[in-house]
Amino acid sequence: MKNEELQAIASQLKHPSGEKGIEMGNMMNETNINMTKHSIQNLNISKENKILELGHGNAGHVEFLFEQAENLKYYGLEMSELMFQEARQINRNFVSQKQAFFSLYDGNKIPFEDESFDKIFTVNTIYFWQKPEELLSEIYRVLKPNGNFCLTFAEEDFMKKLPFTQFEFELYSTEKAQQLIEKTAFQIVYTETQTEKVKSKTGELVDRAFTTIVLEK
Ligand SMILES: C[S@@+](CC[C@H](N)C(=O)[O-])C[C@H]1O[C@@H](n2cnc3c(N)ncnc32)[C@H](O)[C@@H]1O
Repeated sequence: MKNEELQAIASQLKHPSGEKGIEMGNMMNETNINMTKHSIQNLNISKENKILELGHGNAGHVEFLFEQAENLKYYGLEMSELMFQEARQINRNFVSQKQAFFSLYDGNKIPFEDESFDKIFTVNTIYFWQKPEELLSEIYRVLKPNGNFCLTFAEEDFMKKLPFTQFEFELYSTEKAQQLIEKTAFQIVYTETQTEKVKSKTGELVDRAFTTIVLEK
């Protein structure tokens, strides 16, 4: 594949847009659903929790989140206008029932008051954070005391073998993510890496190692 094509894939993963972006949103949701469910399950969601997700893509997993407990409220933040629209459309029933709320933001400043959320999670977005320490302190700010934040990402050793990650991506190993977290006020309560089989772009099954780090305020 040519460099321009690899760069185009990286750009779509970072910021889905246009016709190709809808396809990319569907593909990401399907390929990453196990990582997303794992992140949600590690949040220990309980009834009436207010939950924030950063970078939800098409948010096809929000129904699964609502199955975790009663009377939940879900808030989704995106930088991609297309993913924001897709997520609202796919979850239109939850939106009209005022259970799910979607907004756009700049990727740096979280547009909510201090101590707004019981739980926060994000899956496959850390590679694109412009100012990782600042975003983590924003996440800390909007989390309630004793609240949990779940950070889920694919391991650098796996990601660096994908040719498009040389563009746009900042890759993280568990150690590198932990070092970043240590610069913040968060406590790490749990770290788990597991391997799953996923279909590669060329159709064969490959082993993907991914990590979830559970943090507490
Ligand atoms: C690779 S996709 C992952 C989508 C979904 N979480 C998944 O795992 O399938 C990355 C998504 O995060 C969004 N994104 C990129 N940088 C972000 C940031 N700083 N904060 C929130 N979302 C971001 C992109 O618009 C894109 O929809």
